[in-house]
Amino acid sequence: MTLIHDNMEKMDAKMAARNVSVFYDKKKAIDDVSIDIPSSVVTAFIGPSGCGKSTFLRTLNRMNDTIPAARVEGSVTLDGEDIYRSKMDVVQLRARVGMVFQKPNPFPKSIYENIAYGPRIHGFAEKKDELDSVVERSLRRAGLWEEVKDRLADSGTALSGGQQQRLCIARAIAVDPEVILMDEPCSALDPIATAKIEELIADLAGRYAIVIVTHSMQQAARVSQRTAFFHLGHMVEYGPTSDIFTNPLEERTKDYITGRYG
Ligand SMILES: Nc1ncnc2c1ncn2[C@@H]1O[C@H](COP(=O)(O)OP(=O)(O)OP(=O)(O)O)[C@@H](O)[C@H]1O
Ligand SMILES: [Mg+2]
Repeated sequence: MTLIHDNMEKMDAKMAARNVSVFYDKKKAIDDVSIDIPSSVVTAFIGPSGCGKSTFLRTLNRMNDTIPAARVEGSVTLDGEDIYRSKMDVVQLRARVGMVFQKPNPFPKSIYENIAYGPRIHGFAEKKDELDSVVERSLRRAGLWEEVKDRLADSGTALSGGQQQRLCIARAIAVDPEVILMDEPCSALDPIATAKIEELIADLAGRYAIVIVTHSMQQAARVSQRTAFFHLGHMVEYGPTSDIFTNPLEERTKDYITGRYG
């Protein structure tokens, strides 16, 4: 059971998870989680290590499919469509619901190719000038254009960690996603690079539904409008971020956000 704050502004759900449980072989890692992910706001998932945040995040674009031991029960919809139906094109789904990982993972290719690859394989842009403009627009939107415009042929892996993470965000944006999932996107970054990513998240928030997993309470408070607290596979409490932090209803939430465990 999840305690849902009743003062949450009503918003249309971009994604909806209903009674989602996830097993790794026989071990249940997520237990009966239901949540709506609204458009145009940032939703934060918080909770102690091992509580299932990454596992649940991965159910939203079927990344758990890549883990043989993982089995998902329940339903997840995107614009009302079941993303686990057998006819779902999973490659297409992961373009619509993009993901940014904890450790920046640019392809070992040029900065240009890192961005151009997705639009090319998804058929968004084929001609050189179309690709050029997608690359520039995505890098601009990710706040990286000015830093890399004169070195687009350099390897993506030659960038700093913070730049690599913005490159990965630009890569996700390039295929015109509707939702962006971020799993601790700043945990490998210094405070300045972190501040840049947080600014970027705020800029992007009006345009995409964003879900961010973070271990930083300050970060959740700064970037998100809604917060879900997870504990031992359960989604314990869900509400407006300001409420979760100033007026948590559950003892376990209170203990976690005041640093009594984690
Ligand atoms: N690939 C896997 N195979 C088996 N068990 C897994 C796998 N990935 C996660 N688990 C288990 O599922 C549970 C939830 O893990 P998960 O990685 O989702 O937690 P988390 O909240 O993201 O933790 P952290 O904050 O440390 O990243 C843990 O008990 C973990 O050991
Ligand atoms: Mg995790």
